[in-house]
Amino acid sequence: MKRIVLLGSTGSIGTAAVEILEFAGDGLSVEGLVAGRNTDELARQLHRFPNALFAVGDEEAHTRLLGADGSFSVRSAGHGHEAIIELIERTKPDLVVNALVGISGLIPTLRALELGCSVALANKETLVTGGELIAGMSQERSGLIIPVDSEHFSVKRCLEGYRDDTEEIVLTASGGPFYGRRQEELRDVSVDEVLDHPTWNMGRKVTIDSAHLLNKGLEVIEAHWLFGFPYGQIKVVIHPQSVVHAIVRLRDGSLLAHVGPADMRLPLMSALYYPEICAFPWRRLELEELGTLEFFPLDTGRFPAFDLAIEAAGRGGTAPTVVNAADEVAIDAFLHGRIGFLEIIEWIDEALAAHDVAPVRTVEDVLDADQWAREYLLRKHGNMKTT
Ligand SMILES: NC(=O)c1ccc[n+]([C@@H]2O[C@H](COP(=O)([O-])OP(=O)(O)OC[C@H]3O[C@@H](n4cnc5c(N)ncnc54)[C@H](OP(=O)(O)O)[C@@H]3O)[C@@H](O)[C@H]2O)c1
Repeated sequence: MKRIVLLGSTGSIGTAAVEILEFAGDGLSVEGLVAGRNTDELARQLHRFPNALFAVGDEEAHTRLLGADGSFSVRSAGHGHEAIIELIERTKPDLVVNALVGISGLIPTLRALELGCSVALANKETLVTGGELIAGMSQERSGLIIPVDSEHFSVKRCLEGYRDDTEEIVLTASGGPFYGRRQEELRDVSVDEVLDHPTWNMGRKVTIDSAHLLNKGLEVIEAHWLFGFPYGQIKVVIHPQSVVHAIVRLRDGSLLAHVGPADMRLPLMSALYYPEICAFPWRRLELEELGTLEFFPLDTGRFPAFDLAIEAAGRGGTAPTVVNAADEVAIDAFLHGRIGFLEIIEWIDEALAAHDVAPVRTVEDVLDADQWAREYLLRKHGNMKTT
C-alpha cells in the first residue's frame, strides 16, 4: 500500500491526480489533501477519500468547509502554509504529489524530502527557486523527486540506461497561442486569448507563462537541477503538435524521442505507481493519427520572456527566484486588468535588472529574494490589486 498526500488537489494537475486515485483500487491510499479556496471540490474529495486529513489556504475557506460538513473538523490540519507542513508531518506519507502553484510549493517539497517522502513534483517553481538547496541535499534525499512536468517525465524516461552517454537534452515547446505573431501585436491581447492554449488545458499561471514562453525558460532551469546537465547542454525546439515531449541526443549522434498524448494523466500515473509501469486506461496516441510532426528553432530575441529566464539561469543564485516572484506579481496584476500582457515581461525585466544577485545557501535566502522582488514592484507600480 502506497500512502499519498496530494497538495493542490483542486487544481488542474490536482484534479487529474484525483481522477487516477478514484480508480486506483487498493494499491494507493489517500492520506491527505491540500487545496486553496475551492471548498466545494475539496468537500467532494473528502467524502470520496474518508481517511484523508486536509488543509486549506486561508481561514475563510476553512470556516466554509467546516460549515459544509461538521464531521470534517476532526480531519483538519488547519489553514495556511504551516498547516500544509503539519499535514505532511502528521501523515508522513510514502509519496507527496506537489501540484501547488508558485513558490508556495517550495517549503512543502523541502520538508517532504527531509522526512524521506518521495515527491511527485509538478510544482516547477520548487526547482526554479530552490534548485540549489535540493542539489545540496544528499543523493538519497534529492533522488526522491519524481518529475511530473511532461517534458521532464519524458527526459527521465529517455535517460534511463543512457545517462552517461547523453550529450544533450532537448525540451519541446508548443509555441503557445501566439506562435508566429510579432511581440508588438500582443500588446492588447485579452486575458481570455492568453488563457486559450492550443494543446494543453492547464491552470492560469502556467497557461500565461506558456503564452510568452517564460514557462519554457523555467523548465530549462527545472531540467538543469533535476538531471544535473549544464545549461549549454539543454536546448529547446518549437514543436506545435505537442506529442514529442522531450528528446535526448546520445554521444553517437542518435536521438531518442519520447512520444505521448498531451495528457498529464500519463506522467501523473507514472509518478503515482513509480517504478511500476501501468496500463493507461484513457485514449492512447496512435501513430497513424499523428500526420506531420514539425520542429522549428526557437529564435533567441523573439521570445523575451524565455530569454529573461535563461539570463536569470546564467546569473544563478537568487536571480531565478526574482524572475518567478515578479512573474507571480505581474500575472496577478494582468488577471486583475491592471496591466497588459506584454507588461508582465516588462515587470520581470525591471525586477531582474534592479536585483543584486546573492548566493542561495538557505531557504531564507530564497524567501528574502522573493519578498524583495514583490516589494520592489509594489514600490514601483503601487497597489497590485483592483478588487
Ligand atoms: N496544469 C498542467 O498541465 C501543468 C503541467 C506541467 C506542470 N504544471 C505545474 O504544476 C503546478 C500546478 O499547476 P496547475 O495548472 O495545476 O495550477 P492550478 O490549476 O492553478 O492549481 C493550483 C492548486 O494549488 C492550490 N493552491 C493555490 N494557493 C494555495 C494556497 N495558498 N494554499 C493551498 N493550496 C493552494 C489551488 O487551490 P484552489 O484552486 O482550491 O484555490 C489548486 O489546488 C504548477 O507549478 C505548474 O507549473 C502544470
